Amino acid sequence: MSAHVIPQDREPLDPKLANIVYHDWEADSYDEKWSISYDDRCVEYAVGRFAKALGGTPRHFEMVLEVGAGTGFFLLNVAQAGYIGQAFATDISEQMVKTCVANGRRLGIDVIGEACEAESLPFPDNSFDLVMGHAFIHHVPDLETAFSEFHRVLKPGGRLIIAGEPTLLGDAIASHFKRLTRLGIKAAAATLGRERVLATAHHAPEDAEAAALEAHVDLHIFTPVELERLALGCNFTEVETFTEELTANWFGWVTRTAEAMLAEGIVPDGYRLVAYRIWKSLFWLDNAVLTRLLPKDIFYNAILTAVRPLR
Ligand SMILES: C[S@@+](CC[C@H](N)C(=O)[O-])C[C@H]1O[C@@H](n2cnc3c(N)ncnc32)[C@H](O)[C@@H]1O
Repeated sequence: MSAHVIPQDREPLDPKLANIVYHDWEADSYDEKWSISYDDRCVEYAVGRFAKALGGTPRHFEMVLEVGAGTGFFLLNVAQAGYIGQAFATDISEQMVKTCVANGRRLGIDVIGEACEAESLPFPDNSFDLVMGHAFIHHVPDLETAFSEFHRVLKPGGRLIIAGEPTLLGDAIASHFKRLTRLGIKAAAATLGRERVLATAHHAPEDAEAAALEAHVDLHIFTPVELERLALGCNFTEVETFTEELTANWFGWVTRTAEAMLAEGIVPDGYRLVAYRIWKSLFWLDNAVLTRLLPKDIFYNAILTAVRPLR
């Protein structure tokens, strides 16, 4: 196995079933939860990751499949910039596929959607010029089979791009920021009163059950070298990884954790715009300066790029 398996300190559940139920439940609120939009802000971000995987310059691909596409954040934003001919989206969650196709329709992008597992793609051999995945392979139980499927459905010379994967070390560091933020807010609640500080949970009992599955859907975490080995082991060539986001990621987790915990009215109007500007400055600092000075493994997000050989 070429990845770290996340230990499950809970009753083991079928990971595929957990992913289906959890992501079906999350599909309607997913974009809002993760601040996903289909405007310049997210087009710029998605195209930036896409370009990075292609050596800095984005280019057009005709037949493009995104696996584990969710609501379409990566596929639709790259498509809006004009780099995709025909877009295909698959996901193990039927609700995610429906949301992705509907988001595409709203944006005037024709998406052919199919609910299926990454380990068994319903497409003939040699179908796609590009297969991509964003923030998704850490959910897939059988990575070797999934990568073999990506290889099979790619045309010879076709490109694989896997982006938005948390790294082993980057994630461990980020978890301290999340924990410290939670502790700080709980201390404020203990001093100032829970009602004044903490948001009230809105989950109905059946929602709470689905929400609890979040603890069962993340199966793996990778170092950049492990990602490379995975692709090499499935006969890909021109395999390369990049990492990015350090301080921007810490800031992002602190603000997201605080937003989720704090009572309505505490966060001032205009906060989101200010937070976005700070995040953007830190993102620039990380990528333009810190990636040159610090080891690759401590950055949070990994991008893998590889090619199916011509023969
Ligand atoms: C964290 S979401 C990312 C969605 C989207 N790519 C994005 O970047 O916003 C992970 C997605 O992977 C899907 N998924 C989980 N396991 C899968 C599997 N075995 N095969 C295909 N999709 C899977 C989930 O249903 C979910 O929509």
